[in-house]
Amino acid sequence: MSQSLQFQKDAHGHRTHTCGELRAEHAGSEVVLKGWVDTRRDLGGLIFVDLRDRWGLTQIVLHPQQSPAAYALGEDLRMEYVVSIRGRVQRREVPARNADQATAAVEVVVDDMIVLNTSDPLPFTVSTHEARQQNASEDLRLKYRYLDLRRPELQKNVLLRSRLYQSVRRYYDSLDFVEVETPVLMKSTPEGARDYLVPSRVHPGRFYALPQSPQTYKQICMIAGLDRYFQIVKCFRDEDLRADRQPEFTQIDVEMTFATEDLIYEVTEGLMAAIWRDVKGVELEVPFARMTYDAAIRRYGADKPDLRFGMEIEDISEAVRGSGFRLFDGTLDAGGAVVAIRVEGQGDMGRGQLDKLDKNVVRGKLGGGGLIHFRLPSDGGEVQSSVKAEVLPTSFVRAAIDQTGATAGDLVLVMAGPQPKVFEQMGGLRLHMARDLELISDSADGPWKFLWVTDFPLLEFSEEDGRYYAMHHPFTSPHEDDLDQLATDPGAVRARAYDLVLNGTELGGGSIRIHRSDVQARMFDALGIDEEEQASRFGFLLEAFRYGAPPHGGIAFGLDRIAMLLAGAPSLRDVIVFPKTQSAQEPMVASPDVVDARQLADLHIALVPPEKGAS
Ligand code: AMO
Repeated sequence: MSQSLQFQKDAHGHRTHTCGELRAEHAGSEVVLKGWVDTRRDLGGLIFVDLRDRWGLTQIVLHPQQSPAAYALGEDLRMEYVVSIRGRVQRREVPARNADQATAAVEVVVDDMIVLNTSDPLPFTVSTHEARQQNASEDLRLKYRYLDLRRPELQKNVLLRSRLYQSVRRYYDSLDFVEVETPVLMKSTPEGARDYLVPSRVHPGRFYALPQSPQTYKQICMIAGLDRYFQIVKCFRDEDLRADRQPEFTQIDVEMTFATEDLIYEVTEGLMAAIWRDVKGVELEVPFARMTYDAAIRRYGADKPDLRFGMEIEDISEAVRGSGFRLFDGTLDAGGAVVAIRVEGQGDMGRGQLDKLDKNVVRGKLGGGGLIHFRLPSDGGEVQSSVKAEVLPTSFVRAAIDQTGATAGDLVLVMAGPQPKVFEQMGGLRLHMARDLELISDSADGPWKFLWVTDFPLLEFSEEDGRYYAMHHPFTSPHEDDLDQLATDPGAVRARAYDLVLNGTELGGGSIRIHRSDVQARMFDALGIDEEEQASRFGFLLEAFRYGAPPHGGIAFGLDRIAMLLAGAPSLRDVIVFPKTQSAQEPMVASPDVVDARQLADLHIALVPPEKGAS
């Protein structure tokens, strides 16, 4: 490093402006700016530097005659050096390429510059001007997350998230909700994932569990009379990760005493309207649409339908019954269904493309039995069926097509299989087609299709484990009318549970709760949790229910998911400051990590060596 770059004391004092603040009306004023060197251009005789902070960019000019010392420093400046400058604002002609830069009408001619810190050569480019050429791998960017976070795209997301917190707090405060912090070191609550455990030093062999959600605590808050609770809270779930799942995520958690479904819907719609107003300046239309779970599965093949496009599923079982086609007949005789979607304007799709769709998507990704198609050429020519007329007579093909409403130029895709699986597979194909045809995309500008999904089944049967599991969680109230079926026909019992869905993503879920210990015990019975386990795991709750527990209900929203959709981001990783990778690691600090033997001994833990081949 040259002599000139030895660190100097910051004699400039505080900055007078941020790098996003100066405008033409500041011309002539003396200012102090501080920030990072975003780019430096040496025009042989003049050095231009774009100085960056979280508010924006300002061009500064280093003149060899006007400030020889600063100019000399400027020759050694590199990207991401941290500098302070004092200088005078002057107007400049707005260059066409900078038209959208708020400070483009001015530059600062430097009198004095101090280098506050240097930077090693960067592992990848950070510059605002080069944001588009981010070809560094995600692992590298996560390892140097502090550099990636300097990029305006990520900064924008962090700031959006910050506005989101404030909006949520303002809203619930305006409705007189109480913000409560519940413990992070707690004991297992079942939300369907594995727990993260924390060993106790003072109680050998005992473990805290990090909360999968504060479900039991918030219910106890209702019993405690803290009506109208909310909390912005970290939750932890050791489960398989996807773009919309992180092991550590944030919920907006809500509970209300004497709540009904309608009250929860109304308060939630108000929250979403406030968020979209505050964060995006968008007025949402309320109330949101509602659909039963059953209808969602039958019409969209998903419990979180994406309503930004049509392509609804048609059950064409009746239209093709008795066709003599072995696949259809066999499926229908076994109680299955034949389902179809109409893909508008794709009637001329090539055979090769459809074969790929069958192999890669239907059989591959969706695990379906296979794809049948009917193509209706746009020139009005004859229908092209993937099944020969001798095998599936034309009259049945016609009936199926008519039911979907397809006309010349459309494509009809058909699948046969057991219910409800075939609906879910067709739902997957529907989404695949919509993405492929660009009917939907990750957009920060909507449209915003909110939907309440209602009347979930209370329980679902696991073939693998041979027992029922709670579809939402075991504290969810059954429909009063179905209560007696709990012991006789558990699978038919409806839950007072609801999900809030936006553009095909589950934003939140909740329920009206059980508030009587006898009903809660019956629910545990249906789940095969015996009395001993009930007492050891949930005794505190069953007991609390006996001391005047009021009726109550609530909901929790995935704050990260809301932020992701507001930002139009494809992954939660884009809206979490320090996210985990797909394999639940955090590359910057390199967690999880080994600990030393003494720490383990303190915690009374002996490690079993991992099996050969395990990572
Ligand atoms: P549920 O399990 O449906 O309900 O979770 C509520 C919402 O939290 C978000 N979410 C996640 N976000 C990111 N990563 C994850 N791994 C993850 N898991 C869940 C989703 C989801 O809709 N205690 C109940 C709520 C209640 O009944 O009041 C609960 O936790 O957006």
